[in-house]
Amino acid sequence: MSKDYSKYFAPSIKDARKRLNKETNTVLYNLDEELLGIGIDKTYSIKTYGCQGNLADSEKIAGIMEELGYTLSNDEDRADVIFFNTCAIRDNAEQRVFGELGRIKNIKKDMPNSLIVLCGCMPQEEATVEKVKKTFDQVDIMFGTHNIHKLPEYLKEAYLTKEKIIEVMSFEGDIIENVPLKRAHNVKAWLNIMYGCDEFCTYCIVPYTRGKERSRRPKDIIEEVINLANRGYKEVTLLGQNVNAYGKDFTDLSYSFADLLNDLNKIDIPRIRFTTSHPRDLDLDTILAMAKGGNIMPHLHLPVQSGSNDVLKKMNRKYTKESYMEKIELLKKHIPDISITTDIIVGFPGEEDEDFKATLELVKEADYEGAFTFIFSPREGTPASKYEDNTPNEVKKARLQELNKLVNEGYAKGNKRFENRVVQVLVDGVSAKDEAILTGYTSHNKVVNFPGSKELIGKIVDVKVEKAYSWHLKGKLV
Ligand code: 5AD
Ligand code: SF4
Repeated sequence: MSKDYSKYFAPSIKDARKRLNKETNTVLYNLDEELLGIGIDKTYSIKTYGCQGNLADSEKIAGIMEELGYTLSNDEDRADVIFFNTCAIRDNAEQRVFGELGRIKNIKKDMPNSLIVLCGCMPQEEATVEKVKKTFDQVDIMFGTHNIHKLPEYLKEAYLTKEKIIEVMSFEGDIIENVPLKRAHNVKAWLNIMYGCDEFCTYCIVPYTRGKERSRRPKDIIEEVINLANRGYKEVTLLGQNVNAYGKDFTDLSYSFADLLNDLNKIDIPRIRFTTSHPRDLDLDTILAMAKGGNIMPHLHLPVQSGSNDVLKKMNRKYTKESYMEKIELLKKHIPDISITTDIIVGFPGEEDEDFKATLELVKEADYEGAFTFIFSPREGTPASKYEDNTPNEVKKARLQELNKLVNEGYAKGNKRFENRVVQVLVDGVSAKDEAILTGYTSHNKVVNFPGSKELIGKIVDVKVEKAYSWHLKGKLV
């Protein structure tokens, strides 16, 4: 098939750095009625990589596809439209997608009219788009994170013109409300409260792939939560790259993340969670809103990244180890039972042994009950990808191992404190190993397994914890 890139709308990392417009427009999604039905008798599948933001985006993609008449395929590799909703945060996430693209290359032999779509964060990177253009002829449509709502147009164009469709915006997007959603769960929901990130941590690609920070209007969020509560949803997780910056972009309204938590706490829904918090922007008002309890769950994910002030500075995190620990103290003072987890990067360029030791010290001091740990992965276009990095890979791997040992002790200790306590569990389903065992999450976000019948799935039940393990709790229904 010959290539026509006349539709090529290039991403630009340089442009993506710009923050041109403080104001955010809210636009209502509107489907051209002519397109209704273009998916009748056709199937789709979606493979989602990366964070909850992508899972939430996939629910929008599924919602749009079903509105167009497509049905979900029961074979991921054999659908009329195959989506790869991708992640760019680390190189290994990208390599997995390239591997998958290679693997399904031959689908076009059996299904010549099928379409392969690459979307999400990878198409927001110039280098990726170039690589796909050169190496992965099988990809028919590429679009980025700002234009999911235009998917129906891309499909129509791809069917009509048989050309490759590449449209990736590098400027800040609008907020599109009313996009149809097909939620993956019927009692737990993801809910975007804001998009984008303006922090520009030097290692991170997200401000480039997700654009500027823009908050949804409080009214739209509150209405959505009330609607979910009315439909029997039990848990809502508020999503944003830096939820503590929520509302800072409003020009006509003074309304903060703490205000949002306080308003959502009045709604009759059992559980509100949120992710992710930035330590610098986490304020006392938010801590006090959490301290009120109610439906705000006593768990906080507060990425620290490093315990070394030198490294934090090079990362542009805008806090010190000391100011971070002050926030931890405040959290523990106002919410004594809180469970705190974090993210840590080892092997950042220039990280010396002492820096790494400072990270280990901080992990002990903060008493984390869990952490996601990563080796630094240079992302093209970010400042840190150009920093001199002399640490050998073996040293980085050894540091990661040492850190993980400590982090695992934190997991075990954090679980142990629940032994003999009665916890509330939102039942997710049956255990993968044993149909007679139910599994779910406590308010503190710990996994609990216990014997019980399937009718309890989707309900919140009391469970007495009998034994704590490193990765889960075991208990009995009360
Ligand atoms: N290399 C390694 N880890 C990264 N993260 C973000 N960017 C990188 C990178 N370039 C980690 C951070 C962040 C989490 C979502 O991913 O710890 O909090
Ligand atoms: Fe990336 Fe930093 Fe923004 Fe988090 S706060 S998404 S690490 S730039």
